[in-house]
Amino acid sequence: MDKYYFIYTYGCQMNVHESEKLAGILEEMGYKSANSSEKADVIVFNTCAIRQNAEDHAFGNIGALKKLKKEKKDLIIAVGGCMTQQKTEAEKIYKVFPFVDIVFGTHNLEDFKTLLDNRINGKKRLVSVIDGTPNIVEGTPKKRTSYPNAYVNITYGCNNFCSYCIVPYVRGREKSRKIEDIISECKELVKEGYKEITLLGQNVNSYGKASKFPYGFCELLEEIAKIEGDFRIRFMTNHPKDFSKELVDVMKKYYPKICPAVHLPIQSGSDRILTLMNRHYKKSDYLEKVEYLKKEIPDAAITTDIMVGFPTETEEDFFDTLDIVKKVKFLGAFTFVYSKRKGTKAESMEGQIPAEVSKKRIMKLIEVQNEVTKEES
Ligand code: 5AD
Ligand code: SF4
Repeated sequence: MDKYYFIYTYGCQMNVHESEKLAGILEEMGYKSANSSEKADVIVFNTCAIRQNAEDHAFGNIGALKKLKKEKKDLIIAVGGCMTQQKTEAEKIYKVFPFVDIVFGTHNLEDFKTLLDNRINGKKRLVSVIDGTPNIVEGTPKKRTSYPNAYVNITYGCNNFCSYCIVPYVRGREKSRKIEDIISECKELVKEGYKEITLLGQNVNSYGKASKFPYGFCELLEEIAKIEGDFRIRFMTNHPKDFSKELVDVMKKYYPKICPAVHLPIQSGSDRILTLMNRHYKKSDYLEKVEYLKKEIPDAAITTDIMVGFPTETEEDFFDTLDIVKKVKFLGAFTFVYSKRKGTKAESMEGQIPAEVSKKRIMKLIEVQNEVTKEES
């Protein structure tokens, strides 16, 4: 009889791609994709920890499976991803939900087959979370789900330690894949008929740096752009401190094979807040880079991430954010209310902003961004 799996994915593209790897592992084990959790024999939650509401959402959905597990004794429920990479959260899930069979982290996705096999063969339910930054594992099977687009990891982890962000703690230090591994994956994808390749990294612009490669993101991008075939290249996410004019020049040289689209998270328009965030750029640096991009590639689509309510943010700081939104005229912006994350530097900062103040600010920000979008379209 056929066996089925269902994966709940929360969060960013990195997680979407990681779910494609979990699906690949499950398909190699003989499982098929189910179109609902009710039909599945294995249910996996691939969680996100970037903001509290992402964790709350996953908690709610895991809890809702209690009844299904009661009706279907052989059902296996596994919870992995960024939320469970935090030991306290992993243990909480294990304790609060006794019907969850496997809790695993971001660093042992490749062990998922073993963890699942063990549980199926009667081993005890367990929490398996590994600390540190293990070496990159190549060759994990993938069941791609976003044709004609294909995601390709270029880096894992992050070294930036923005003071609000949990990513460096749950994804480890930055590691880059070797250029030859990336190129051969891209060539294969083009051969298979994929029309768009999206390169993934927490900060694609620092590709190669921490690994001390003699080449960086611009060289990688050129090598991919030289692959023959009818396809486009995208990449995300950029960090303004590492986003270079040289990169814009490479994008221009290979226009439109390299899509003229740049996601460049600004986070705040206030220099004081950017310093507290540990972002290593000023509003004027950001504007200068955007100006160069617009000059060289006039139809560049610039999108961003913006946060309101970071500790100590004043009305004046917030106006600086509104000002940059009006100046850059982003094609789109993901807007967030700052959410306190355990273990980050901002967690213990004085001057946490009351929820009602942040709410007012985010509503104003969305209003201003909507006006910009209307003007631009
Ligand atoms: N609170 C709110 N938003 C956050 N982001 C990252 N960490 C937090 C946090 N603690 C946002 C940033 C980032 C995007 C992926 O999520 O804007 O660019
Ligand atoms: Fe988080 Fe900053 Fe790294 Fe992005 S660059 S993942 S915001 S620490």
